[in-house]
Amino acid sequence: VKVRRAGRGDAAALAALWSELLRIHAALDPRAALREGAEAGLESEVARALRDADTALWIADAEGGCAAFAAARLARTRALARESCRVEITELYVHPAARRRGLGRALVEAVLGWARERGAARAEVRVVARNESAQAFWRAQGFGDFVDVLDRGL
Ligand SMILES: CC(C)(COP(=O)(O)OP(=O)(O)OC[C@H]1O[C@@H](n2cnc3c(N)ncnc32)[C@H](O)[C@@H]1OP(=O)(O)O)[C@@H](O)C(=O)NCCC(=O)NCCS
Repeated sequence: VKVRRAGRGDAAALAALWSELLRIHAALDPRAALREGAEAGLESEVARALRDADTALWIADAEGGCAAFAAARLARTRALARESCRVEITELYVHPAARRRGLGRALVEAVLGWARERGAARAEVRVVARNESAQAFWRAQGFGDFVDVLDRGL
């Protein structure tokens, strides 16, 4: 599995993968529904993420093309906490044809290595409760329950 940091030349490929991920989440839960025309703005969102000093994106290539990506950002913790910095893994997506071949795991290892080098001592990820494959994946990477995000409609 070849994992590399994404650069500006990857913006279109990243936007395509990101839009597949957004569609999966929208199908899983109406709260993640996309607004009209959202996908047209994705490439500029990707460009913004690539410019941000505390954010990084990675790509895993398979069969000569971009098959998976991850995005993460460093979060500085409040001054009173002993912890000074953690990493939040904000996106992870593997194309269906490339799943269960270790791409997801390799991307997570790249994120964690990057974050450790920058002083992060802990990693967080938000996972939709009913996303069973993602729940199983993250637990297999050593993640466990931490905060329950409760919500209600208004
Ligand atoms: C979740 C996801 C990223 C996993 O990527 P992947 O490349 O298939 O995962 P890996 O091959 O690295 O799997 C590593 C381990 O995680 C666990 N795992 C992965 N997918 C699993 C599944 N569907 N069911 C149960 N366990 C799973 C297994 O322990 C696996 O090891 P094994 O294959 O040796 O049994 C991928 O299924 C995906 O993109 N899903 C849709 C998007 C999504 O839900 N993203 C996460 C948002 S938080």
